[in-house]
Amino acid sequence: MKDSVKVFAPATVANVVCGYDVLGFAVNQPGDEVVMRLTGKTGITISKITGDDGKLPLNPAKNTVSASVQHYLDHIGKPDLGIGIELHKKMPIGSGLGSSSASTVAGLFAVNTLLNDQLTNKELVPFAMKGEELACGYGHADNVAPALMGGFVLIRSYEPLDIISLPFPQDLHAAIVYPEVDVPTKDARQMIRSKVLLKDAVTQWGNVAGLVSGLFMNDYGLIGRSMTDILVEPTRSILIPDFAILKSLALEHGALGFGISGSGPSVFALTRDAGTAANITQKLQQHLKGLAINSLSFVSEVNKRGPIILD
Ligand code: HSE
Repeated sequence: MKDSVKVFAPATVANVVCGYDVLGFAVNQPGDEVVMRLTGKTGITISKITGDDGKLPLNPAKNTVSASVQHYLDHIGKPDLGIGIELHKKMPIGSGLGSSSASTVAGLFAVNTLLNDQLTNKELVPFAMKGEELACGYGHADNVAPALMGGFVLIRSYEPLDIISLPFPQDLHAAIVYPEVDVPTKDARQMIRSKVLLKDAVTQWGNVAGLVSGLFMNDYGLIGRSMTDILVEPTRSILIPDFAILKSLALEHGALGFGISGSGPSVFALTRDAGTAANITQKLQQHLKGLAINSLSFVSEVNKRGPIILD
């Protein structure tokens, strides 16, 4: 049995425009790393966090990684097991790319590996949702489920939890741009209106069903025209500088569809190839530079594996 392991877990694009809290997919990069050791002592300690500019708590009760690992240990009947955690943030915090989720998932996959895979990745989802609850007040699964399972994931129901891995066209790529402006998920969730008109709900669930059908049928046109959100994007996009212009630029340059990644401020486009995705990120970054806003970009295939062991 190993007594230490290093794990990478991927970033994710939650919502995929129309599927607020019910759709998400994972990308190959960026992502976070966790190094975990069995210490032989009692309880969880976090010895080191890098790449977070001091923003994340070292207190195991407050950190999403250790808190969700503790839920896992309670569940398997080893609540006092000695675990040492190092977290290496390799992606921006509060970016809308499932940053807390990537860390939490890396931690849960690491502890499950050290304890001989007692649970499947899908069974780890509820523990990772506890981490999301700590991070933003609500245990949504549309980041943690794809980070754990890879690919595109649908959360058909939260109570009871019903999670479905969806097929997707193998050449699908994501172009992601993170404008360096601050949008905390908690605030971005609070600004959404809680009641919707039936006619708007009809439009929205038509698009969710259209997107899922498009993924099943490899129908790029259907995928693209279903990436429309009339419920959440109109409110949240106000927080993203020149969102409408970024969207037109992406669509003009070959995006199948475009929208906010998770709660933002990152935006993303889906494309059929890496070259188109790279060109889109360049055009968007150029525009943001003109607004004096720094940005980061990522181009990736859809991640097929979820977390992996690095060491
Ligand atoms: N579905 C969540 C939200 C994802 O939009 O608030 C957060 O990354």
